[in-house]
Amino acid sequence: MRVCVTGNDGYLGSLLTAELLKRGYEVIGLDTGFYKERMLYRGPSITPLTQAKDVRQVEASDLKETDAVVHMAELSNDPLGQLAPTITYEINHRGSVQLAEQARQVGVKRFVYMSSCSVYGVADRDFVDEESPVNPQTAYAVCKTLVERDVKAMASDGFSPTFMRNATAYGASPRMRFDIVLNNLAGLAWTTKKIEMTSDGTPWRPLVHGLDICRAIIAVLEAPREAVHQQVFNVGDTSHNYRVREIAEIIADVFPGCSVSFGPPGADNRSYRVSFEKIRKHLPKFKCAWDARRGAQQLYELFKRIDMTPEVFQHRAFTRLKQLEYLIRTRQIDDHFFWKE
Ligand SMILES: NC(=O)c1ccc[n+]([C@@H]2O[C@H](COP(=O)([O-])OP(=O)(O)OC[C@H]3O[C@@H](n4cnc5c(N)ncnc54)[C@H](O)[C@@H]3O)[C@@H](O)[C@H]2O)c1
Repeated sequence: MRVCVTGNDGYLGSLLTAELLKRGYEVIGLDTGFYKERMLYRGPSITPLTQAKDVRQVEASDLKETDAVVHMAELSNDPLGQLAPTITYEINHRGSVQLAEQARQVGVKRFVYMSSCSVYGVADRDFVDEESPVNPQTAYAVCKTLVERDVKAMASDGFSPTFMRNATAYGASPRMRFDIVLNNLAGLAWTTKKIEMTSDGTPWRPLVHGLDICRAIIAVLEAPREAVHQQVFNVGDTSHNYRVREIAEIIADVFPGCSVSFGPPGADNRSYRVSFEKIRKHLPKFKCAWDARRGAQQLYELFKRIDMTPEVFQHRAFTRLKQLEYLIRTRQIDDHFFWKE
């Protein structure tokens, strides 16, 4: 099977392409390369042939003879979305819908879209599942719901889109992100031996390891069409809803000599847990292999092996917002986030 992975030079994309290649898939990549400046550690020795292209400039011919597209190339978190909401709509909403249209036109059969549990926003219940109303609070999350709506409407006998509402990821990747909660706390624990939380850390955060997201995507690619056609899946495990304070405590436990302290209760502690029962039922081959403790241990071993310094932890390439602000300030990308010559 020939799979095009967009965003393959990102945190999750670099993990997914390695997993697909290992399993014998033919893989092509497409990524504009915002964060290619630096790697945290040496990645796999085989990487896919990659087009350095913006997703907004993809043409149908780029996707010829492709069986499936896994679409990851977006501005990938809330703060990035807030940096330039108009560009977020251009890339995340319109860019993604246009890509799906091109894919459908050239006969791509499967389109796997990376959505997010952030679509649930603020919920008025304890547990949310795929049937719960969405309530996105940011441009990033609104775009995820718009892409789901528009691409779902394109489904046909020959075109099966699937929407993965991923929990917040964690774990090692050569294209590391330190702007996601567990990775950030682990980096702080390693470089400062201190986690000082400004709030009491009671809100819930569903977490999922990057490699488990990859395994869920592969399960979708390999599932019978009926199991995934036009389906929305929360990606994670119901037992992996953690309170933020629990995540901090796990990290402090795994990183020797790390202290942890909490602040007073936050003013707004509305939060909810996510049910991941549907993916378990529809894709029985998929089960999370990681939990937060194992992920923390993986990061501890990695930081030790590469002797990670505070400079590396704080490097802009590993915090998506910092890197884009740098590219804007140094005028390497223009007002619409296209590279300048
Ligand atoms: N990491 C998480 O916790 C998480 C959780 C839920 C959903 N997701 C979604 O999964 C996807 C991948 O996330 P990630 O953590 O790997 O993000 P990332 O920022 O590490 O990777 C995104 C990649 O897309 C590329 N890209 C961005 N805009 C582009 C454009 N206009 N044209 C071409 N390439 C472009 C970037 O260069 C980057 O390599 C995103 O859609 C994200 O919203 C991630």
